[in-house]
Amino acid sequence: MILQHTENWVRQRLAKDTTGHDWFHTERVRNVAKTLARVEEADSFIVEMAALLHDTIDDKLVANEEQAIQEVVHFLKEQHLEKKQVDHILEIIQSISFSKGMELRTIEAKIVQDADRLDAMGAIGIARTFQYSGSKQQAIYDPAIAVREEMTKNEYRNGETSAINHFYEKLLKLKDKLHTHAAKELAEKRHHYMEQFLTQFSLEWEGKA
Ligand code: ADP
Ligand code: NI
Repeated sequence: MILQHTENWVRQRLAKDTTGHDWFHTERVRNVAKTLARVEEADSFIVEMAALLHDTIDDKLVANEEQAIQEVVHFLKEQHLEKKQVDHILEIIQSISFSKGMELRTIEAKIVQDADRLDAMGAIGIARTFQYSGSKQQAIYDPAIAVREEMTKNEYRNGETSAINHFYEKLLKLKDKLHTHAAKELAEKRHHYMEQFLTQFSLEWEGKA
């Protein structure tokens, strides 16, 4: 019942997103996270709740993070969860949204982050990257701002990047950042698929394929 309520609440908030964070992203993260939770014998209710709510406080999606957090807190309080559960769910979604490199404390947090990262890989990850890039008026690829390993993002021309750069900046690094064994296994095929895509992309770019 609580899961169904939460699904409805989130679905309504993400329905109109066209930046790579639509409801179906959340649904996939939830499903993969559920599978990982089973393998890891983690608390599946906490995992599912955190997966459902994980993008509702993302600063890319909400104008006011503080207000978004308060709305989630209010929503969770209405569901009559134990305080411990509310705190754990909030800890997970906040640490995933804001941490960028922070150690995650619990297996449930690690699972939700793994599932979120898996959805940024493979065929779906490729599709989401180009959708996100389009929404930010970024180029598909621009040799003038092409990624160089030693550069950080801020060093590109005017801080610009491109969809193809994003693979080198982030997506190809994801497989080594996963926590759980099951996620690492799932990531292999997705990683390989992205590499093949990039190889074919550059061959076509150069008129060689
Ligand atoms: P989530 O929080 O759902 O993991 P992000 O908010 O980091 O994802 O990104 C959402 C989607 O947009 C992902 O597929 C990601 O790869 C893509 N994305 C994020 N930043 C960029 C960028 N600078 N250029 C292209 N795609 C991006
Ligand atoms: Ni996400």
